[in-house]
Amino acid sequence: MFKVFVTRAIPEEGLNLLRKYCEVEVSPYDRMLTKEELLEKVQGKNAVITQLTDKVDKEFFEAAKEVKIVANYAVGFDNIDLEEATRRGVYITNTPDVLTNATAELAWALLFATARRVVESDKFMRAGKFQSWAPMLFLGKGVTGKTLGIIGAGRIGQAFAKMAKGFDMKILYTARSPKKEFEEETGAQYVDLDTLLKESDFVSIHVPLTPETRHLIGEKELKLMKKSAILINTGRGPVVDEKALVKALKNKDIYAAGLDVYEREPLFEEELAQLDNVVMLPHIGSATEEARRDMSILVAQNIIDVIEGRVPRTLVNK
Ligand code: DGY
Repeated sequence: MFKVFVTRAIPEEGLNLLRKYCEVEVSPYDRMLTKEELLEKVQGKNAVITQLTDKVDKEFFEAAKEVKIVANYAVGFDNIDLEEATRRGVYITNTPDVLTNATAELAWALLFATARRVVESDKFMRAGKFQSWAPMLFLGKGVTGKTLGIIGAGRIGQAFAKMAKGFDMKILYTARSPKKEFEEETGAQYVDLDTLLKESDFVSIHVPLTPETRHLIGEKELKLMKKSAILINTGRGPVVDEKALVKALKNKDIYAAGLDVYEREPLFEEELAQLDNVVMLPHIGSATEEARRDMSILVAQNIIDVIEGRVPRTLVNK
């Protein structure tokens, strides 16, 4: 019988679907597996459902000799050695679309939390410091009518931009090539990265992590941003040079940052936690009940596709 290993529990909807077709073993631990545990568990399995915290590298494939598909429970797949998988004829799939709105919505949550100093204000209330309404208490930045810069106009970047409609914003974007339909729908303008950084009041990162995008935003780029601008990152941590970001936030080279991802997760530059002008979340971009349920169904469907002899529907190593 076709055997599937799931490296960490995911919503039951997908697992129940899979159980109709194959044998499913789920890691009993509510934590990331160690490398040794992972390599032991994947032996003899025909499919593995991995998390973005699992390294799927040469050693993984050496251990998982029977594996036909690795279904990553994420839209990003920078944890996977795609070339090695392709060389070995292993399908790699991801979970696009089903988490688009959830992640775009979280980018907005960070944008408002930083612009309107929501977390600082909440801390203030809990500390019992609220004495009276005050004209200068927690002044933040307005959003309506401002310029929104989107780095990477893929599915999530575009959804994030479309959500700006009600705020009457001017939208600038970078992408590998201009996206005509997107421009028609949102009035977005295709610009180069420097222009976007110089002109935007809010800069939101939506590119995948690749060798080209690692440290795309470093000291030089942060200096190009307005002192009043806010940087939002719900993509991948290493796209931003975190040390340079700390420096920029400390020096007030930018106004604030809203982060859901970090350079060395689960670690982050300790100084970030000392700064009031940063809001930090524990990589929860796709963490809605709906998105995580639909992600579980999609990883299952990809595996069922393989069991039934089809090419999996969201294959990334075509
Ligand atoms: C993804 O799917 O790549 C997200 O980062 C998960 O929240």
